[in-house]
Amino acid sequence: MGDTVADIKNRLSIEDVVASYVQLKKAGRSFKGLCPFHSEKTPSFIVSPEKQIAYCFGCHKGGDMFKFIQEVEGVDFPEAIKILADKAGIKVDVKKFKSKEKGEKSLNDRLIELHEDACRFFESNLFDKADDAKEVLAYLEKRGITKDTIEEFKVGFATGEYDDLYKYLIKKGYKHDLLIKSGLFTLKDVAGKGIYDKFRWRLMFPIFDHMGRAIGFGGRALKQDQVPKYLNSPETAIYSKGKVLYGLSHAKQSIKEADKVVIVEGYFDVISLHQSGIKNVVASSGTALTHEQVKLIKRFTKDIVSCFDTDNAGIDATKRAYEVVQDAEMDMKTLRMPASVKDPADLMLERGGKGKEEFLELVDTAEYFLEFYITLMNAKFNVKTLEGRKKFLDELIPLVKLSKSSVKTDHYVRILSKYLDIKEKFLYDEIDNFKVLRDQFGQNKSKEVSRPERFDSTTVLISILLEYPQHFEKVKETLNEGDFVSELKDIYIELSRQYNDARTEKKKWDFEGEKMAGVSEKMALLSLYAEENYSQFGEESVVKEVEKLIDNIVKSRRMHQRIVLEKALKEAEESGDEGKRKQLLEEFQRLITP
Ligand code: CTP
Ligand code: MN
Repeated sequence: MGDTVADIKNRLSIEDVVASYVQLKKAGRSFKGLCPFHSEKTPSFIVSPEKQIAYCFGCHKGGDMFKFIQEVEGVDFPEAIKILADKAGIKVDVKKFKSKEKGEKSLNDRLIELHEDACRFFESNLFDKADDAKEVLAYLEKRGITKDTIEEFKVGFATGEYDDLYKYLIKKGYKHDLLIKSGLFTLKDVAGKGIYDKFRWRLMFPIFDHMGRAIGFGGRALKQDQVPKYLNSPETAIYSKGKVLYGLSHAKQSIKEADKVVIVEGYFDVISLHQSGIKNVVASSGTALTHEQVKLIKRFTKDIVSCFDTDNAGIDATKRAYEVVQDAEMDMKTLRMPASVKDPADLMLERGGKGKEEFLELVDTAEYFLEFYITLMNAKFNVKTLEGRKKFLDELIPLVKLSKSSVKTDHYVRILSKYLDIKEKFLYDEIDNFKVLRDQFGQNKSKEVSRPERFDSTTVLISILLEYPQHFEKVKETLNEGDFVSELKDIYIELSRQYNDARTEKKKWDFEGEKMAGVSEKMALLSLYAEENYSQFGEESVVKEVEKLIDNIVKSRRMHQRIVLEKALKEAEESGDEGKRKQLLEEFQRLITP
């Protein structure tokens, strides 16, 4: 795979790749255009041929050409490889997709027809009275799904045979070529001679388009040890997983009526809730919520309640959903399932007739995501320690910054200041920091540009250092690695190492070093950020900026150290630990003497 990736990168230029989606204009060493990921009137999407990066510093989307394709097409990494390999004229071992070419319309129609036929076939399998089918019906019954629901969602069954669907569709007159494009078959060899049913021994959920036509399938494993648990249609000319919400065709009327949508994770969650009478429900089907999906929702309501798993992956998905939702200027609440149940489908099964009422109560009492997340981060990080406070703020400031309403910002700043026991003003400084920098350099003050920014002082400083290594000397006099966290810390440590290794030479960082493998993209991105924001200013302005950033970081460090010490001191006093108290007091003295 690595070879293919490198090969593609060599043959394609990032600006050409992006240019088929975004109108680009040359701007210095880079290109600029309107961001394809959020709506804006002033271009903030930057493509750097030198750094091989296409990135929006407004909404923080993009990356290298693969990341860009993933995001703009709503596909995963292998699919992005396929798309770009195609463009580069390189053969990859999976059949490439056909996309927007002429003849697409009739191809789409034929593919939809095929899916509708396949859907009917799977449905009939479920009720054909064979022993296998009976087992599957029993399984559905065990999960509390009624016959009406099965019919309403056209749930079906793919048998264990290798060519059931194949034979059925061939008999209906479909050609090999179309079968391959449907994504429902697996090829035995590249020539496409031998092909067999991809979905075997699975419970089949058709995925519908907005008109309720089948355009893909999600197949749930029915046997123990069968992997994956859910097998989904691949991207095809008619199906793109990031552009579809499962259940939307069944839910849109109720979403409008309730003026609210509940987003759940899985197929079973949708159909179980629907069955209970809660119909304003859709599923993102195991992917993070995308901009396209949020746009779809926005046509029906602005009120979103997310209901994802509460494991790490689920929380991460919820957080990303929040970012996407903020970008669409909507808000999102987060529903918390009772600890005893796994997901809505479980709740409905366990509580029977009472499930509906309980779930509606959970929807009504759902907290705004950010309140939920603040509580969660407070439990995760010990805000009594310096490191903990930094991580807590690092997690939350960017999210608070995303909010486009000052009323909301104010609300969250109040909450954060209570948790951290600091003045609200300090938090506003952190939040405003970036905006101030922009204004100072006289950049465009339009709404788009002053939109929430996610880079704090430490990030901006590292980005400047990457682009202007000559300022490292100054930074190092005052700061140390303890002033940075996570990836920034790794980068700072590496910069120090390189600096010490080559003290006398004119500095130029080596981004390719072995140690940098994990953060090289981040480094490229950050240095592009500095290039974009500082290259038009003289050395003197940059020096001033560096000084200001150092100052910010030191102030922030002092303030947090002070609070940590005060807390520890109080504890030492309360527990009567005189030695500890003395030691802390000395530290305190050192801290406040300039
Ligand atoms: N999913 C997927 N691919 C997987 C696993 C899950 O696409 N390999 C999607 C499916 O849409 C599924 C949803 O993620 O409905 C939730 O997955 P999971 O939490 O694993 O489902 P469960 O609730 O455990 O599934 P079930 O209720 O069927 O037991
Ligand atoms: Mn489930």
